[in-house]
Amino acid sequence: MYVWARVCVCVCVCVCVCVCVRGVRALATVAVGAWKTLKTRARTHRIVTCLSRCALRDAAVRRRIHRSPSLSLSLYHTHTHTRKQKPTHFRGSQRGAERGAGRWTGDCEHVWDQLPGEEQHPPFDGKRLGLVSGAGRRRCMRLCPLLLFLPLSLSLSLLTAPLQSERLLIKGGRVVNDDQSLYADVYIEDGLIKQVGENLVVPGGVKVIEANGLMVIPGGIDVNTCLMKPYLGTQPVDDFLQGTKAALAGGTTMIIDHVTPQPEDSLLEAFEHWQEAADKKACCDYSLHVDIPQWNDTVKDELELLVQEKGINSFQVFMAYKDLYQMTDSQLYEAFSFLKQLGAVVLVHAENGDLIAQEQRKILGMGITGPEGHPLSRPEELEAEAVFRAITLGNRVNCPVYITKVMSKSAADTITQARRKGSVVFGEPITASLATDGSHYWSKNWAKAAAYVTSPPLSPDPTTPDHLHTLLSCGDLQVVGSAHCAYSTSQKAIGKEDFTLIPEGTNGVEERMGFIWDKSVAMGKMDENQFVAVTSTNAAKIFNLYPRKGRIAVGSDADIVIWDPDSVKTITAKLQQSASEYNIFEGLECRGGPALVMSQGRVVYEDGKLQAQQGTGRFIPRKPFPDYAYQRVKFRNQGVTRGIYDGPVYDVVPTPKYITPAPSAKTSPTSHQPPPIRNLHQSNFSLSGAQIDDNIPRRSGHRIVAPPGGRSNITSLG
Ligand SMILES: *[C@@H]1O[C@H](CO)[C@@H](O)[C@H](O)[C@H]1NC(C)=O
Ligand SMILES: *[C@@H]1O[C@H](CO)[C@@H](O)[C@H](O)[C@H]1NC(C)=O
Ligand SMILES: *[C@@H]1O[C@H](CO)[C@@H](O)[C@H](O)[C@H]1NC(C)=O
Repeated sequence: MYVWARVCVCVCVCVCVCVCVRGVRALATVAVGAWKTLKTRARTHRIVTCLSRCALRDAAVRRRIHRSPSLSLSLYHTHTHTRKQKPTHFRGSQRGAERGAGRWTGDCEHVWDQLPGEEQHPPFDGKRLGLVSGAGRRRCMRLCPLLLFLPLSLSLSLLTAPLQSERLLIKGGRVVNDDQSLYADVYIEDGLIKQVGENLVVPGGVKVIEANGLMVIPGGIDVNTCLMKPYLGTQPVDDFLQGTKAALAGGTTMIIDHVTPQPEDSLLEAFEHWQEAADKKACCDYSLHVDIPQWNDTVKDELELLVQEKGINSFQVFMAYKDLYQMTDSQLYEAFSFLKQLGAVVLVHAENGDLIAQEQRKILGMGITGPEGHPLSRPEELEAEAVFRAITLGNRVNCPVYITKVMSKSAADTITQARRKGSVVFGEPITASLATDGSHYWSKNWAKAAAYVTSPPLSPDPTTPDHLHTLLSCGDLQVVGSAHCAYSTSQKAIGKEDFTLIPEGTNGVEERMGFIWDKSVAMGKMDENQFVAVTSTNAAKIFNLYPRKGRIAVGSDADIVIWDPDSVKTITAKLQQSASEYNIFEGLECRGGPALVMSQGRVVYEDGKLQAQQGTGRFIPRKPFPDYAYQRVKFRNQGVTRGIYDGPVYDVVPTPKYITPAPSAKTSPTSHQPPPIRNLHQSNFSLSGAQIDDNIPRRSGHRIVAPPGGRSNITSLG
């Protein structure tokens, strides 16, 4: 029914165009023009020329054209060519031209002078005319494809546009971006922001949304969710449908989910599996990170393919999960180097997996099997140590590093200090680490304690959230994720006798933005612009989605939230969108929340009611080498550009080698030997007479690795 209406509209448009063009001849011209355009390069000047010829029939327009010297210049000159070469094709316009211009004589300067009522022309600019004359005819012909393609593309877009392509105007709000706030209206059409400003001129019949002075902010971007992460054959209860619904209800309009292949799984197949599921279910735009379960050569090929053809630019590596996902330092070094060369962002799960494995054994051996064993076996310093190591690796390889899930004060401080020394590192605290702490692991209620199990664990130090909010507010931490991975209590109970088996993950996608407002902005730590930065803009920049996402500006996607700073709600599992039965923030009060959420230009959440549509989320591909992460890196560790030294060079006479052959000479890059320097490590000091070790065979050559001032082993000298 709806489609037929559209088809009718298309047909009407086409018929109208045909009438306008008038006749088969004109159509033939259209075709010829179209064909010619394909062969010639388009130039902006062409449109001016063409439009003026067409408009010539209208006396008013004609007058306007005559008033504009450059327009008429092109116009009449164009006709010198069309008239000479194809007199019949342009009869209508030609008549118009003659009526407007008097008699045309074939000399451009002459025509110019003869224009009626145009006595004070600027002096004739022969140069400009010369430029036009070269391709005058072809330019004119290019009008025709314009006429052909315009209705065609119009009809196509009509047919393919989403059903609810709405035109909306958000009136009377304060537009808040990461860099400025201003009172402005926002006009939205076809899922894009078309205008931002005051007193906008918009078409009639537009639906108006009154923002009543509330903040109009870019929709949140949650770059850490696990909506399909398998665990021993089960999957989280929040899939792409439930998870994105929860996201939208919290003001988040885009997620980046983790593809989590198991060792032996193909990354590419896993990616396609995730994409297929998300395309069917997601209610908001999404993108994907791919986790690397192990490092080998097959993985390299797949990574390359994912970056170059699938639009993935971020991959997670693991420093924890011994004998499963954990990589050694040298593998990490290789992985960092390879990913850097691809221009990807390296996400790091930073925890010392070797020590965790030892600690887990120890804690279980002590008879502690409950959820408190989780934080006990993963103390804060194991996180901080790994964060430091990840940053060190990033510095050595000179590649940007993104630490996922910053859970403790010391890990956050490590990032802060590294940034102050110039490292390109980003830190992502999550909803859980910002709004609650690890004291709940000691809860008497097993189900409650297990609900908090995630890795790295929540810090039992109750001052942690406050500290993380402070760092977030001053920009030392950049992005807030949720690490939303909701398992039901019965799934968590897989580990009821062994805490190491409890599936890891907490909720947080729905509460993410609210708690940052409540605990940072409403506490006077953070301003509204920084709020936008940490909830969307920074993430969009790091993962190369900016300014399509993370900004309210002309041309950006219409993923918009009207934020109400004064709304208050108490978090409870009963009222949440998430399907999990336990909410780790249960009972907490939260100020600030979305009043209205718009995804792709459609209102999906208003006054507490969600109208999300399954499957409307689009996969958003991302290009490698995001400037925000890579620009600084690019200029580092570069050689010096200098002229070639062409002065005299001392002629080095080849000198005999040392008595002990130096192995380093083999790898020396220069063929010239440096002048002999006495090597203090090599000595042919000898004693005369019989020695105590005369019967021990001497080694002919021995290289001693001795750092300055230490580890010299006099007794082993050969
Ligand atoms: C390399 O790792 C990938 C991803 O885990 C896996 O699919 C593949 O079988 C591995 N290849 C080898 C040779 O181990
Ligand atoms: C000892 O070494 C020096 C230079 O390293 C060499 O000129 C000299 O011949 C050596 N003496 C003996 C006894 O090998
Ligand atoms: C140093 O000498 C001792 C005793 O001869 C020997 O056991 C040891 O291996 C030597 N160490 C090194 C680094 O050569």
